Amino acid sequence: MHIRKAVLPVAGHGTRVLPASKSIPKELLPVVDQPVIQYVVDEAREAGIEHFVFVTGRGKGAIEDYFDEAFELEHTLASKASKAEILKDVQRTKLPPGAASFTRQQAPLGLGHAVWCAKDIVGDEPFAVLLPDVILRAKPSALAQMVEAYDKVGGNVIAVNPVPEEQVSSYGVITPKSRDGRLIEMSGMVEKPEREDAPSLLKITGRYILQPQIFGLLEDQGKGAGGEIQLTDAMVRLMESQAFYAYEFEGEEFDCGSKTGYFEATLAHALKHPETADEARGILARYADTT
Ligand code: G1P
Repeated sequence: MHIRKAVLPVAGHGTRVLPASKSIPKELLPVVDQPVIQYVVDEAREAGIEHFVFVTGRGKGAIEDYFDEAFELEHTLASKASKAEILKDVQRTKLPPGAASFTRQQAPLGLGHAVWCAKDIVGDEPFAVLLPDVILRAKPSALAQMVEAYDKVGGNVIAVNPVPEEQVSSYGVITPKSRDGRLIEMSGMVEKPEREDAPSLLKITGRYILQPQIFGLLEDQGKGAGGEIQLTDAMVRLMESQAFYAYEFEGEEFDCGSKTGYFEATLAHALKHPETADEARGILARYADTT
């Protein structure tokens, strides 16, 4: 069945980028000229996603406004011919009427709980989850690559990519069994393992295509790593009854939830953006000379 809906859990505080995220949702921090979340929504739209379910929390209302019509702003821009291009950029951010839903996670109980909060809006159909801290630069988009694989094999598909050994304890990690190109059959997954217990150096990247039966498992999922209800733990249980694949997508990853990841995302995108690429190269060369 076609993947129409995507869940974006955006309730998290962004403690790793405080104080920048103190009064602005971290998902709205800019990377060159767009907020982080715009890149993630664009990735999903390229994969055919039609409906976005944002799991928000207190202090995240600005995300809802961002995807809405900005009537006064658009009116002001439309009255000046010189602002036509900017108007287009602003209008592009609007999600079509009816294409976005917002629900709140009332307490930070973990990613599994955040996804569970979307269950009534998603209903009984397979869906995608995109963690909005992570920008994936890929052609076709990472989720589009996964949807293509999913259309062939069905079941559940999660994105994975290599992780340096010293960082493995910060992520979900898979146990690969066999491999066919970029598609990997798994025999297990573990959330935030100790370095010496990590079953591989392939981490879960933050993109998922899941069957709706995950919701029933999340309902009674106990606390796992970090005392939180973990999506990974419910996926391990779902794997007992359903096909589950990992997909090593082709592309680059930027973890905008960390200071250096955010900086790298800004640098990498500035070096590709047509309005900034030349100057960005010049700036980079200047700083490289002085260090
Ligand atoms: C979450 C997932 C983890 C995944 C990671 C990717 O962890 O639980 O499996 O590897 O995202 O960024 P978090 O970063 O929320 O601790």
